[in-house]
Amino acid sequence: MNIEEYIQRAISLAETYRYTAKPNPMVGAILLKDKTIIAEGAHELFGSNHAEVNVIESAKKKLGEKFKSFSELTLICTLEPCNHRGKTPPCTEAIINSGIKKVIIGCQDPNSRMSGKSIKKLIENNIEVKVGFCENDIKEQNKFFFYKHNNQKPYLTVKIASSSDGKSHYRNKNRTYITSVSSRDDVQQLRAQYDAILTGGNTLINDNPRMNARVNFEINQPKKILLSNKNNLDINQQFFQDSQVEIVKEKNLETVINNYKNKDYCSILIEAGPKLVNAFLSTNLVDEVIVYQSPHPLGPNGVDWFNKDITVESLGFNLESSYKIDDDTKKIFLKC
Ligand SMILES: NC(=O)c1ccc[n+]([C@@H]2O[C@H](COP(=O)([O-])OP(=O)(O)OC[C@H]3O[C@@H](n4cnc5c(N)ncnc54)[C@H](OP(=O)(O)O)[C@@H]3O)[C@@H](O)[C@H]2O)c1
Repeated sequence: MNIEEYIQRAISLAETYRYTAKPNPMVGAILLKDKTIIAEGAHELFGSNHAEVNVIESAKKKLGEKFKSFSELTLICTLEPCNHRGKTPPCTEAIINSGIKKVIIGCQDPNSRMSGKSIKKLIENNIEVKVGFCENDIKEQNKFFFYKHNNQKPYLTVKIASSSDGKSHYRNKNRTYITSVSSRDDVQQLRAQYDAILTGGNTLINDNPRMNARVNFEINQPKKILLSNKNNLDINQQFFQDSQVEIVKEKNLETVINNYKNKDYCSILIEAGPKLVNAFLSTNLVDEVIVYQSPHPLGPNGVDWFNKDITVESLGFNLESSYKIDDDTKKIFLKC
């Protein structure tokens, strides 16, 4: 195997923990003696050991049996190791203390607290470092993480369910299911990918939604953000039950999103009604719009998503992909 192949293997080790590592990046690591893999590791759970520490701990069990000293080993990791004390001690410290003398890094960390600093520290400690293998695959795997650090804001996706005549819900405020059971299942999978779900006060009151990700695999549930100035919120509603909820009273959406610049949110899924969705789409903050379109109309008692002649495209988004889910169509639009 060549370096790229080992990195690819580390990328797939990391992938297993896509839903439990978030909002941290997925990271995989391998320790090699010559061309033999001695140990493998990944960052499995947000707040727990990073991949580099896991792989070193795993290799320690084979010390004396498969190798005599860590100085014989090469560490391969997908992302630049951390150099700061966060929820766990710095990985650079663990690497230096282990006695490893060669490190191969797939991609530099985009986080300005790290970016290149860990590499420098390893080199200063007489460790040979090579960087830059399969970088596009690593960036793609950690799309939201790279986006957040490169743009100083979380990746924002607006998700809407629309009837064939472009409506959001019935005027009488009763909860309306627009799309099929399969589309709604797809939304559960979508929610599982995000660090937070954001909605508005009217949706909370009219729909009594849970807005969690009901999937049959282990995930870090997205946190919830409620934009509302209502003083009569019922915190016994199911929305408040199973995840941390942040109630935000600020109306300026740039200010709202700017507040997440330094928080552990790389991605936010906006699931609101026409008022808040249109308010977001009138800013430059939204990166993606996902429309689940039903073949059935709601008719004149339905509330329009957009004013006449306005479409997702006219708001500055290009159709990226479109496919059928039962009789519904899922359309993904990306900012032009
Ligand atoms: N089809 C779908 O995909 C879908 C998805 C979600 C909801 N819905 C439907 O949407 C209906 C509610 O829609 P809606 O348009 O009335 O309400 P909404 O968009 O859910 O929420 C609007 C509320 O958001 C808050 N808000 C905070 N900052 C804002 C800003 N800058 N601009 C606008 N709003 C801001 C305000 O809350 P306060 O007034 O509390 O301060 C405002 O009343 C529900 O009945 C639900 O059925 C449909």
